[in-house]
Amino acid sequence: MKIVLTGFMGSGKTSVGQELSRRLGYPLLDTDLLIEEKEGMPISLIFKKKGEDYFRSVERLVVEDVSKQDRTVIATGGGIVKDKRNVENLSQRGIIVWLKTDPEVILRRTMSEGGKRPLLDVKEPLIEINRLLAEREPLYEQADIVVDTSFIAPGEAAQEIIEMLALESEVTVSLKERSYSILIGRKTLNKLGVRVKEFRPSKVAVITNPTVWAFYGDACARALKEHSMKPLVVTVPDGEEYKELLWVSNIYSELLKARFDRSSILIALGGGVIGDMAGFVAATYMRGIRYIQVPTTLLA
Ligand code: S3P
Repeated sequence: MKIVLTGFMGSGKTSVGQELSRRLGYPLLDTDLLIEEKEGMPISLIFKKKGEDYFRSVERLVVEDVSKQDRTVIATGGGIVKDKRNVENLSQRGIIVWLKTDPEVILRRTMSEGGKRPLLDVKEPLIEINRLLAEREPLYEQADIVVDTSFIAPGEAAQEIIEMLALESEVTVSLKERSYSILIGRKTLNKLGVRVKEFRPSKVAVITNPTVWAFYGDACARALKEHSMKPLVVTVPDGEEYKELLWVSNIYSELLKARFDRSSILIALGGGVIGDMAGFVAATYMRGIRYIQVPTTLLA
């Protein structure tokens, strides 16, 4: 997973990024720094000599490049959300975090850092901050998670992000391109939505049985709904004797009826029978689609 930090100038993207990088052991990529390296001059000079449009075109190339990385923290420039292509690229296997900040705090932070920000090099910077914020907030709001960094330290913001994504509970099974993560911890079901979102599925189905769904259905549906996903719920009767092709075929039919495609995701919510059947369906439907196990028994 990539953690992509977005937000206005002075929202703390770089300093929160450094804290996240240190705590998670992921490298930090800072798009502004990469642009400066590529161009061999500071951003203020790129704006002055070549203009904003040129800066945005280099920014887009740098974003394309960093988007290919996995297990990284990416600190972006405040204007990255203006181009839809940037957001699309960064969203691939990435969680977009909006570091939301009060305009007065932005003013204080950016002014104390001197003339690094060409866009705020104006007579009335607070008016300009508010103008740009009004234009950009609807774009920042599309992030997967939001952390208000106005009155907290970068370390606290980093910790909040780690908790929101259950990253402390994560164990990685390293198998090169077949690597996957396991979350072991309390209340990880609540994090199902944000963790599924990372894969940007076209549709989501939960394969379960009526007994398990009665226990965990609400929590599961709520976690997915928080991230705008409404699952197709396919149930198989509870019991070992239902682990057979007739029921597998029933799941295929439900998926086909609902037009599940190769970028859809299955979630197996249940014990061994459900896990085996959903795994088999995921391995064979349209030559294999992605799936997530949410085991509800120790054996599963
Ligand atoms: C910009 C923000 C800056 C930098 C450039 C343009 C913007 O990055 O990319 O000056 O359009 O908001 P920071 O947000 O890191 O200051």
